[in-house]
Amino acid sequence: MRKYLVIGNPIEHSLSPKLHNYWLEKNSIDAIFEKKKVEQEEIKSLISKIKKEEIYGINVTVPFKKAVIPFMDELTTEANETQSVNTIYLLEDKVIGHNTDISGFELGIKYSKYNVKNKTVFILGAGGVVPSIIVALKRMGAHKIILSNRTKEKAKKLKLFFKDIEILDWGILPKVNMIINATSIGLNKNDKLEVDLKKFGSNNFFFDIIYNPQETDFLKKAKQLGNKTENGKMMFIYQAHQAFTIWHKIMPNIDEETINLLKE
Ligand code: ATR
Repeated sequence: MRKYLVIGNPIEHSLSPKLHNYWLEKNSIDAIFEKKKVEQEEIKSLISKIKKEEIYGINVTVPFKKAVIPFMDELTTEANETQSVNTIYLLEDKVIGHNTDISGFELGIKYSKYNVKNKTVFILGAGGVVPSIIVALKRMGAHKIILSNRTKEKAKKLKLFFKDIEILDWGILPKVNMIINATSIGLNKNDKLEVDLKKFGSNNFFFDIIYNPQETDFLKKAKQLGNKTENGKMMFIYQAHQAFTIWHKIMPNIDEETINLLKE
């Protein structure tokens, strides 16, 4: 039986095994997808198992999307332009590092029928997934991307890579069309992002990359203020969908049942 993994730290919360194992069964594929909490030192030997075909594919999550790069033989364009790898596979004896977060975000936004073209977008946070969000927003034709992170240094580092983004001090809220929470605030039910959402006005689109819990305080307040909101569930499903398609050469179905799988 072929083995696939998602690695990260922490990893308990990951719903990737649930989703991938569901699709594996639906498509009668003789494989298993497991989660593994790893330490930095274990990454090298784990990835060597891809070459030896002891593991057939790896999904990478926080905080290792960058840390795995030195162990790749090749990066795809998407992984290279974000310096972020979330999907690993073997192709013609080479370990390939790829990024499906970009298309995951893009398809997730399209699913919610929001048109990013010519919009001004504000991103809160500068963590591992943010480069993918920036690339996706640019691909979708965003007019301008503004970013703010509690630790400004991290935001500045991103600007070295994406020169046309604008950086604001934490707490300053610009007039925009779309606001993305890309911080980890909200993962715990009692988390509150100390941002006065009223300052953004109404009729904006609020997106949270968090999908568990389904409605963060950020989305709840935004909705109460008359905005359109969406959580990160479809982004998560689509990034998994792309990885599954690469590994198994089969496009799994995304239907009500799939979406309901991720409900608590
Ligand atoms: P990593 O930073 O290791 O990539 P992440 O989960 O992808 O981890 O990112 C966490 C994001 O949430 C960061 O932008 C972080 O801000 P810092 O860079 O200042 O740490 C943000 N974050 C986490 N807790 C926060 C808090 N209490 N207030 C504001 N931002 C917070």
